[in-house]
Amino acid sequence: MARVLITRHLPAGGTDPLIEAGHEIIDRDDDAPFTPEQLKAAVSDVDAVVCLLTDKIDAEVIAAGAAPAGRLKVVANVAVGYDNVDLAAAQAAQVAVCNTPGVLDETTADIAFLLILAATRRASEAEIDLRAQRWPGWGINQYLGHDIHGATLGLVGYGRIAQAVARRAAGFSMTVRHHTRSNTNLDGWCADLDEMISECDVVSIHVPLTEQTRGLFDAKRIARMSRSAVLVNTSRGPVVDEDALVDALEAGELFGAGLDVYADESAVNPRLFNAPHTVLLPHIGSASHATRQQMARVACAGVVAVLAGEQPDNLVVD
Ligand code: GLV
Repeated sequence: MARVLITRHLPAGGTDPLIEAGHEIIDRDDDAPFTPEQLKAAVSDVDAVVCLLTDKIDAEVIAAGAAPAGRLKVVANVAVGYDNVDLAAAQAAQVAVCNTPGVLDETTADIAFLLILAATRRASEAEIDLRAQRWPGWGINQYLGHDIHGATLGLVGYGRIAQAVARRAAGFSMTVRHHTRSNTNLDGWCADLDEMISECDVVSIHVPLTEQTRGLFDAKRIARMSRSAVLVNTSRGPVVDEDALVDALEAGELFGAGLDVYADESAVNPRLFNAPHTVLLPHIGSASHATRQQMARVACAGVVAVLAGEQPDNLVVD
């Protein structure tokens, strides 16, 4: 029986794989995130950690948990992205890392499509006015946006989530293009990101956060987009330079934006709150009951497999 630390309460049923395998679960009494010091102390006498994307599993945390200080064998991140985990430190310390691929694609694609529609049709600002009782009644020039049906969508990255967005776009008769660094040999692939985004009505970002993608949408790149276009980001906030985005929106150089993720998720850039034609969601891409439970299960099943000496499909490094 191994000791498994769960850094926050997981959805009901999420820890079933650990329970079924007979492991001891170290759960939390409260739902506040660990401070870095608390996290280091908590990992020092466990075999595995099931953590969230808000937990920074850096080299210090790994060192506090792994041999010779401790006996940590595996970190399972309840997220598909794992930029919060120092993979090099984990690998050097022989700590396996798992994530939750495959179970949140459709749910996250739903939110990406919601943002595409809402930003393009100005749904948030219209609803905010209505709720504030500022709507004087129907007007022929009110809240004019752009059509999504028949428009061109550019997907940046073409993994499972982007492909799920493409399937939705087909139902709206959109032309769908995608950019990845290597040729997908699939219809709609564009070698040149700048060329692709200059020809799109909507650009939706679906890349992991890496040193190559940090700041990918900077002022220069955003300036390539059409003035009537919308930028949607459901991946990771730091992929977009938020100040450059707000500058472009305020100057009317970009029509709108739909964001689910932010450069600093504990203190969202306040300039975004007043940016024109902007829809802001609090990182809820995968937030359905079924998907969050499934994510927790996949992460916990990864822990069980690694502790049993197996190589689960959701292994990022071993
Ligand atoms: C959510 O952002 C995830 O990476 O799963």
